[in-house]
Amino acid sequence: MVVAIDGPAGAGKSTVARAVARALGFTYLDSGAMYRAAALALLERGGSASEAAEAADIRLGERVLLDGRDVTAEIRRPEVTEAASKVATNPKVRSALVRKQRELLSSGNWVAEGRDIGTVVAPEAVVKVFLTASPEERARRRAEELGVDVETVRRDQALRDAQDSAREHSPLRPAPGAVQLDTTGMSVGEVVAGIVELVERGR
Ligand code: DC
Repeated sequence: MVVAIDGPAGAGKSTVARAVARALGFTYLDSGAMYRAAALALLERGGSASEAAEAADIRLGERVLLDGRDVTAEIRRPEVTEAASKVATNPKVRSALVRKQRELLSSGNWVAEGRDIGTVVAPEAVVKVFLTASPEERARRRAEELGVDVETVRRDQALRDAQDSAREHSPLRPAPGAVQLDTTGMSVGEVVAGIVELVERGR
């Protein structure tokens, strides 16, 4: 079964999804890492974005592997972050990655995190959560995580939010039936407990 957690950058998705997966004994799927790895493949090899995404052998786990190479740290670099947001607007890239994600999710128990898990990748998910937080709080969390200036993060984030929500293909929006959770002022523990309870109730 699949638990889908979607929402904008900095809403706390990764931390929360990882913790929910651990609490339930499910496997965590970071779909954003796939867009990042595909973007890195494109930056390094050039060619068309969709060919790069199709050809890339992306393995997710403790570490993110691109064609057998550990790219866990590299895919978090700002230029890869920016490139990932761009390749994510390409419908051919999306369909190649969505196919890979559906293959993974077809067996076993998963907590999958991203922007379109509940809307496109796994609309059948037993529980769908749309996590949000105020733009200020999201920027503050990201800045703390990256050790950089809040104002710069807030500006970059606003730009990526606009890009992710306004894109024509699979824009960021809550799936029908998704539980919307504003995590502003909530602790990670509270958010995780809330989602675990939804899952327990839903199965
Ligand atoms: O969650 P993240 O910051 O690692 O995601 C990187 C980029 O990929 C971000 O710009 C949004 C995009 N993305 C997407 O379009 N669909 C997903 N399911 C996951 C990420």
